[in-house]
Amino acid sequence: METVSALRVKSLYKVYGNRADKAAEILRNSADGDEKLADLSVTAAVVDANFEVRRGEIFVVMGLSGSGKSTLIRMLNGLLPPTHGTVEVDGIDITKLKPAALRKLRREKISMVFQHFALQPHRSVLDNAGYALEVAGLPRAERREKALQALRMVGLDGWADKLPQELSGGMRQRVGLARALAAGTEIMLMDEAFSALDPLIRREVQDQLLELQAELGKTIVFITHDLNEAMRLGDRIAVMRAGRIVQIGTAEEILTDPSNDYVAQFVADVDRTRILTASAVMERPLGVVDVNSGPRVAARVLRETQTSAVYITGRDKRYLGTVTADAATQAVREGRKNLQEIVSTEYARTVADTTPVADIFAPCAESPAPVAVVDAAGRLAGVIPRVTLLSALGSISPDVSESTTTPEPTGTADPAPTNDAAQTSDAIPASDDVGTASTGSGPAATPEVPAQVVAEPSARMTGGPA
Ligand SMILES: Nc1ncnc2c1ncn2[C@@H]1O[C@H](COP(=O)(O)OP(=O)(O)OP(=O)(O)O)[C@@H](O)[C@H]1O
Ligand SMILES: [Mg+2]
Repeated sequence: METVSALRVKSLYKVYGNRADKAAEILRNSADGDEKLADLSVTAAVVDANFEVRRGEIFVVMGLSGSGKSTLIRMLNGLLPPTHGTVEVDGIDITKLKPAALRKLRREKISMVFQHFALQPHRSVLDNAGYALEVAGLPRAERREKALQALRMVGLDGWADKLPQELSGGMRQRVGLARALAAGTEIMLMDEAFSALDPLIRREVQDQLLELQAELGKTIVFITHDLNEAMRLGDRIAVMRAGRIVQIGTAEEILTDPSNDYVAQFVADVDRTRILTASAVMERPLGVVDVNSGPRVAARVLRETQTSAVYITGRDKRYLGTVTADAATQAVREGRKNLQEIVSTEYARTVADTTPVADIFAPCAESPAPVAVVDAAGRLAGVIPRVTLLSALGSISPDVSESTTTPEPTGTADPAPTNDAAQTSDAIPASDDVGTASTGSGPAATPEVPAQVVAEPSARMTGGPA
């Protein structure tokens, strides 16, 4: 049976210095071990690391310079022997392997991409890309074919015969990536692989990695000291501080629920609008009406909820659109029975629950009614009123002000009154006659949106780091 974890690290320590073993023992056995290490003149680079990397995930290790990231990653492929603890690759404890067996395992299972590419200057791009295969003793033709295929994946097949020096930094790093891909290993370790690149190039290579990953589903351990890079790439992120992993979680978990002040400070100035998604800020819709229940029910729910539109769902709770108060009233007057005929998709814009908050501002500004949030199955997951978006933005901004003024966003037209955050669900009476109408229902998680409204929202929207 295949294990879910590609890598499993247990109670892992690396101490540098002559009395490393002694130091690791002290660290393991006493709470105030760090202080006792002072006279041993050792460096505790990794202290009690415990984690698993799942198959197919990008696991980011993030931390300041000197926090132990490189030391940790080098123990994952056995380049560095740990002072204590185990590293399992596909269930095999590599700390117990003999050198030859370890080399074989590295060749077959783990590739590494380095910050400075580690390309050989006198060999062609093609030979560099096929280097691992050469070491593995593959015949030339096969090597060539695999290396070319890998170069094609990173968009460099036209450069096969060039020398590394003829390439830009970004292209050289893609050769480094191609070399790891050509090796065909399931696990890829990347130590600050993109850190030497200019910001724009860096973004391109990040995009490329994400694209490749969507296709190939490698297991990647990616080291960076750049928080935004970590948040962009990582399925999960481990935050390291002075040798210890202080938190492991998704970008969203780390942003919204930092395990301590250190992590909170670390993430204080990340551009949260790129990380948080619609599902993190959405609210329960005030009025949801089943499409089969008819215009009369829609009109009643509109009256009860004092909103300008209700959200209509069909079979399996799939979201169909909205019905406005005007449309409902007119349909009732004309004696129409079918709600489907008056459902509109114009009045409320729709976004996916995975849409980053940064990309919701425009639909929110254009949408007379709160934006509808739809999950992967097309069901109505929640709604985002404009005011909610702005106050949520306030609560996720590091410099939220205490101001309670200026409730309206600047420069957005507001053609219709909508159910804004001022309305609470206890304004909704229990429905009486019709079972298909519901108010305040739906699977939306209730976000913690502070009541205060934030001044100068537009300034803060663009205030994140570039
Ligand atoms: N070979 C070594 N001998 C002694 N100390 C070392 C050695 N390698 C690293 N260290 C020390 O171990 C600690 C962790 O270093 P490491 O290189 O793992 O950190 P890092 O998080 O990768 O830092 P950076 O972001 O600068 O690459 C540092 O204090 C470093 O000085
Ligand atoms: Mg390092």
